[in-house]
Amino acid sequence: MKRYIIAITGASGSILGINITKELLINNEVHLIISNHAFDVINSETEFIWQSVNIDEIKQYFNSDRLFIHDTNNQSAPISSGSFITDGMFIVPCSMKTLSAVANGYANNLITRAADVIIKEGRRLLIAPREMPFSAIHLENMSRLSRIGVIIAPPNPAFYHNPKTIDELIGYMTGKMLDLMGVANKHFKRWE
Ligand SMILES: Cc1cc2nc3c(=O)[nH]c(=O)nc-3n(C[C@H](O)[C@H](O)[C@H](O)COP(=O)(O)O)c2cc1C
Repeated sequence: MKRYIIAITGASGSILGINITKELLINNEVHLIISNHAFDVINSETEFIWQSVNIDEIKQYFNSDRLFIHDTNNQSAPISSGSFITDGMFIVPCSMKTLSAVANGYANNLITRAADVIIKEGRRLLIAPREMPFSAIHLENMSRLSRIGVIIAPPNPAFYHNPKTIDELIGYMTGKMLDLMGVANKHFKRWE
C-alpha cells in the first residue's frame, strides 16, 4: 500500500481536494491536512459544513481506517519529518499564499512544512494553484517550483471529452491530477 499526503488550502475548488482524498483512500494510506482558511471555503462552496474542531465528522464522511487527519498547527505530526516515508504529496487546491510559502521554504504550518520535506527528500509534489488571473509574482513562484520538478497542475478543465455536467469537469481534473502522480483511477480517460 502506498502512502500519500493531501493538503486542502483556502483557494476555490475544495471539492477537488475532497475528491482526490476519496480516490486515494481506495488503495492507499492518506494523511490529510485542511488549512484553517480552507474550512471557510469548504463551508461556502460545498455541501459540507466542516469545522477544524470537529475532525470526527470529516473522518465519518470518508469512513476509512486508512485516513489520518492532521491539524495544520501541529508541526510535530509524523509528516513533518523526512524519516516518515511517503510516496508524494498533493496540494489541491493551492492558494497563492501557500504557493508562495512553499516556493520560498517558509514552513510556518504543517502543510508548508510537509511540502518542504517532500522537496528536500526528492519526493513527488503536485500543486494545483488556483487564482484568476495570475500575477507575475504567482507565476514566478510556480516557475521556481516547476524548475525543481514540482508538478504545477492548475485546475483547468478540458472540453475535448465533451463534458455535460460540472461533475464531469471535476472528474476530469481530479483524474488528471491523480494520473500525473501515477495513481490509477477511473476518471481520467486517455485520448485514443
Ligand atoms: C470563498 C473564498 C475563496 C477564495 N479563493 C481563493 C483562490 O481561489 N485563490 C487564492 O489564492 N486565495 C483564495 N482565497 C483567499 C485565501 O483563502 C486566503 O489567501 C488564505 O489566507 C489562504 O490561506 P491558506 O493557504 O493557509 O489556506 C479565497 C477565500 C475565500 C473566503
